[in-house]
Amino acid sequence: MSKKEKLLVTSALPYTNGPVHIGHVAGAYLPADIFVRYHRLKGSDIVYMCGSDEHGVAITIRAEREGVSPRDIIDRYHPQIKNSFERLGVSFDNYSRTSLPIHHETGQEFFSDLYSKGILKKKQEKQFYDEKAKMFLPDRYVEGTCPVCAFEEARGDQCELCGSDLNQTDLKNPVSKLSGETPVLRDTFHWYFPLGDFQERLRAFFDARPNWKENVRNYCYGWIKQGLQDRAITRDLTWGIKVPLEDAGDKVMYVWFEAVLGYISSTKEWAQKRGEPERWKDYWQDENCKLVHFVGKDNIVFHAVMFPSFLMARGGYVLPHDVPANEFLNLEGAKFSTSRDHAVWVDDYLERFQPDPLRYCLAAIAPETKDSDFSWKDFQTRNNSELVGILGNFVNRSLTFIQKHFDGKVPAAQPPDELDQWMLKCMAEAPGAIGDSLEKYEVRRALKALMDVARNANKYFNDKEPWRRVHDDRDVCATTLNICAQVSRALAVLMAPFLPFSAVKLWKLLNLPGNVHEQNWGQSGEAALAAGHVLNPPEVLFSKIENDVISEETNRLKSKAKPGSNKTAEKEERTLISFDQFKDVDLRIAKVLTAEKVEKTDKLLRLEVELGTEQRQIIAGMAEFLAPEDLVGKKVVVVANLQPAKIRGLESQGMLLAAESESGEFSLLTVEKDISSGTKIR
Ligand code: MF3
Ligand code: ZN
Repeated sequence: MSKKEKLLVTSALPYTNGPVHIGHVAGAYLPADIFVRYHRLKGSDIVYMCGSDEHGVAITIRAEREGVSPRDIIDRYHPQIKNSFERLGVSFDNYSRTSLPIHHETGQEFFSDLYSKGILKKKQEKQFYDEKAKMFLPDRYVEGTCPVCAFEEARGDQCELCGSDLNQTDLKNPVSKLSGETPVLRDTFHWYFPLGDFQERLRAFFDARPNWKENVRNYCYGWIKQGLQDRAITRDLTWGIKVPLEDAGDKVMYVWFEAVLGYISSTKEWAQKRGEPERWKDYWQDENCKLVHFVGKDNIVFHAVMFPSFLMARGGYVLPHDVPANEFLNLEGAKFSTSRDHAVWVDDYLERFQPDPLRYCLAAIAPETKDSDFSWKDFQTRNNSELVGILGNFVNRSLTFIQKHFDGKVPAAQPPDELDQWMLKCMAEAPGAIGDSLEKYEVRRALKALMDVARNANKYFNDKEPWRRVHDDRDVCATTLNICAQVSRALAVLMAPFLPFSAVKLWKLLNLPGNVHEQNWGQSGEAALAAGHVLNPPEVLFSKIENDVISEETNRLKSKAKPGSNKTAEKEERTLISFDQFKDVDLRIAKVLTAEKVEKTDKLLRLEVELGTEQRQIIAGMAEFLAPEDLVGKKVVVVANLQPAKIRGLESQGMLLAAESESGEFSLLTVEKDISSGTKIR
């Protein structure tokens, strides 16, 4: 027997500052769970690790806003998040917490090891400080304008709009999240991880992984090309893992340094719970183990660049085999927004619906290569016409027929005719086809291959017309229904990674021994049911969802999106500017001469515009909404006296005006009459 494939799979540790919504699920959890469940059926030696990310500013900001302690926040959300995942069937082998002693120990051990090897550098520096709140303002405590894309609500550590990871001192117009004041710079010191020293090792590491997803590879080589900088891995905060050095004072570790180590701690905890405390090493310290990190695209740099470097520095640990990062899921055409409650929370969903239809829908629209959109209408259609209409329908008509005409026993088959053989072949090939896609993390394609079996099976049933043959050729009818029962059994195993609850139900209806989740994937396409096997009375696998149920959900979303209830609207009401302030903005008509996409970005366009006699280059974040050819020749409105900014290495000499609504509608501002470029707007 060939040696079992060994894998260690992780999903990004969610911040414990709120419940999980379906956007999270679609990116880092469901695809991983499907992949893991498939590998378990295939017989791989696999463990699946996750846990709550309980330190860092995401938690403390939430605590401060509510006037409670960070501990209150994590103790509230950790059980809630854990429970949501369980009810949705996300089958972690362990779900840990980074607040546990076992994780603090792991974090300190890594830190001490790198320190004692002389890898970390201590540097004096200036950091933003809030004089009102009397504290340093690491990371997200400061917001401001992104130096790369000019997004005004960029966070100190990262810009959510363009994905750049930032140093907070790069932000323009920095504002303290605590007091709303402009922070001052104060002296402090931090320990740095010399990421730049790992540049060449990282390049070799990427070169050795040519099968990584295109988007991930682009990011990785992009960072290397920009040149990797030293990274501070400590912070002036009280919440987090204490830096285990005498001169560290109150400093804690940067959350991104220790959170990724949470995968290791979680595996240690798992091993301890099994009474085999050393067992984690079988995965983390075996170079044949494939370490796979499922994450959203905003986490790529931490898993593909930073974590591998930390592991290289430490030595003796396996490096990531793959980082199959997903893009983002939108909701009804707009971004998920926790603050505006534009979200579908998993808890809330499960109050009213079964888990499998959501799993099905999210797998079908998984944002694998580009952002995708969840809508309730689409959810209803997929449930009603695919789950109920195709998969459920086939199983139900087969089992009902056997119940009615064959006394609930699998009828004996005659030698197969051509159509029978075609059906048997579809069934036999399905495990390979679905498996091949899953090995490549292509969940959408895998799901389609599964549904193709059910689609073909319905066609087979129709073409065989058992409702006629039962009267004029009972042997043919028996063969048909024997094969339908075999296909139903195969479907139970093949659907198990995607629809784990329905698979269990179907296994019961088929009255089969053991657990459907412990079957053999490789053999699942074989005709394994014996003639005469007694089935249980049929029940429907999936139920239709009616229009009024769906309208209730869409109305719920709309009623939450009340005008004025969001942050931006509040700001707009508050801030008045004088006419003089307005006059400071030099708005002018410009003519777009050329436009092209900026390579390796999704959002950016490079434009050459004419401003009277002058010609300028503008980098605009509009590529998602407009094709370059839509812009060329247009008269547009630009801010002509904006400080030039470097965006992806390109200078932007001004800004194009456009309108974008909360629901994602977009319109470029143009002119009503043709008017010469350079004209001033008042
Ligand atoms: N908590 C982070 C987020 O939600 C993800 C952390 S992944 C880890 O974006 F590996 F660092 F734990
Ligand atoms: Zn940005």
